Amino acid sequence: MKKQVGIEALAIAVPRRYVDIEDLARARGVDPAKFTVGLGAKEMAVADPGEDSVALAATAAARVIQRNNVDPAKVGMLVVGTETGVDHSKAVASHVQGLLKLPRSMRTYDTQHACYGGTAGLMAAVEWIASGAGAGRSAIVVCSDIARYGLNTAGEPTQGGGAVALLVSEQPDLLALDIGLNGVSSNDVYDFWRPLGRREAVVDGHYSISCYLEALAGAYRGWRERALAHEVVRWGETLPGEQLARILYHVPFCKMARKAHTQLRLCDLEDAPGAAESTPAAREETAKSSASYDAQVASSLGLNARIGNVYTASLYLALAGLLQGESAALAGKRIGLLSYGSGCCAEFYSGVVGEAAAQRMAKADVESVIAKRERITLDEYERIMRLSYDAPERVSPAPGEFRLVEIRDHRRIYAAG
Ligand code: CAA
Repeated sequence: MKKQVGIEALAIAVPRRYVDIEDLARARGVDPAKFTVGLGAKEMAVADPGEDSVALAATAAARVIQRNNVDPAKVGMLVVGTETGVDHSKAVASHVQGLLKLPRSMRTYDTQHACYGGTAGLMAAVEWIASGAGAGRSAIVVCSDIARYGLNTAGEPTQGGGAVALLVSEQPDLLALDIGLNGVSSNDVYDFWRPLGRREAVVDGHYSISCYLEALAGAYRGWRERALAHEVVRWGETLPGEQLARILYHVPFCKMARKAHTQLRLCDLEDAPGAAESTPAAREETAKSSASYDAQVASSLGLNARIGNVYTASLYLALAGLLQGESAALAGKRIGLLSYGSGCCAEFYSGVVGEAAAQRMAKADVESVIAKRERITLDEYERIMRLSYDAPERVSPAPGEFRLVEIRDHRRIYAAG
C-alpha cells in the first residue's frame, strides 16, 4: 500500500486582543458594510510587540505537542513559514526549538515566500517523510505571522495575526495529501512586498487581487490535469472542481475566497468539453453561483472572519475552521487547498480528510482559544499600533503561552507562562 503522509494534528495561537471591524469602520468614517459585506470581516486580531511571530509560533507549537502527546525525540524537522520574522539571519524555528527545549537532532529552518512560506514548509516536510528521508520521524510546520499595513491605509481592515502549528506524519488523521497531484504557478511581480527595515507591507491592493486570481488559475489547472490523469476527478455531469467536497483558499480577507472560487469555476467552465456552446457572459454568471460557494467554501471562513489576515497561516486557519465544525461529515472525503504568496507563487493541492479528524480537532479546542480574547477600543488599538516593536509591554504571559519581554544586546528574551 502507498505510504500515507499528511497532517496528523494542528493547534492555533492568536493575539489576546481584537477589535470589532465595525468599530474600525466607524472610526475611519467608512460604511461598516464595506468591511463586513465588501471584505467579509467581523473582527481583527491585534498583536502587541510582545506577541511577535516567535511567541505565537512557540505557543502554537507547544500546544500541538502537548495536546497530542507528541514525543519530541520522534520529530526530525521543525520548519517555520513566516514573512514577518524577527531577524535577518536567526531563524524563528531556532527560537521555537530553544523555548520548547526540543532535541538538537532535528533540522530547524524558516521558509519565506510571502504567504506561500507555510505551504513551502509543509511540502518540504511531506516530501521529506514520503521519500523515506525522515526515517519514520514526524515534522512540525508552524505558520506564524503578523499582518500589518498601518493606520489609515486601504489595507488596514485586512490586518491580523496568529499562528497555526501542523504536525506532519505518516498518520494523517486530519488530512492525507494526494502527493504528486500538486499544481503550481509562479511569476515575478510586485503586488505586495515589505522592503528591508519596514514594519508595514507595501501593497498594490487591486493588482494583488488580479495576481492572486491569475496564479490560482495556473495552479488549479496544473492540479486538475494530474487529477484527471489519475481519475481523481473527471469531466462529466459535474465539473472537476465540483467533485471536491470543499475548497479552501488563502484568505487575506474573506471576500477574496469568493472571488477565488469564482475564478476556479471559470477555469472549469472555460475548459469543459462543449464550452464553445456557451457565451463568456453565461460562463461568468454560472461561475459566480452562490449555491456552489455556500456548499464548498463558506463554512471554512469562520475563523478567518474573526482573526483577519494571518499571511502564511490564513489557509491553515481556514482548514482549522472547516474541520472544527465538519470533521465527522467530511471523513473520507477529498478537499482542495489553494495557497498564494505574493511576489508570487501559488500551489493547489488536495487531500482526504481522516476518520480520526474529529478527535484531533477536539484536542485543538480552537473555540476556547478564540473565546479567551478581549475586545478593545479603537483608542487602545491605535495605542498598540504605535508601540515600538522593540518595547514590549510588561505583561505576564498566560499559562502555556510565550511572550517577548525584552531585547537585550540585540538578543530577544522570551518568557513562558
Ligand atoms: N457596502 C458593501 N460593499 C461595499 C461597500 C458598501 N458600502 N463599499 C464598498 N464595498 C465593496 C466593494 O464593492 C468591493 O467589493 P468587490 O471587490 O466585490 O467589488 C469591496 O467592498 C472592497 O472595496 P474596494 O475595492 O473599494 O476597497 P479598497 O480599495 O479600499 O481596498 C483592498 C480593498 C484592495 C483589498 C485593500 O484592503 C488592500 O489593499 N488589502 C491588502 C492587500 C490584499 O489583501 N490583497 C489580496 C491579494 S494578495 C494576497 O492574498 C497576499 C496577502 O495575503 C496580502
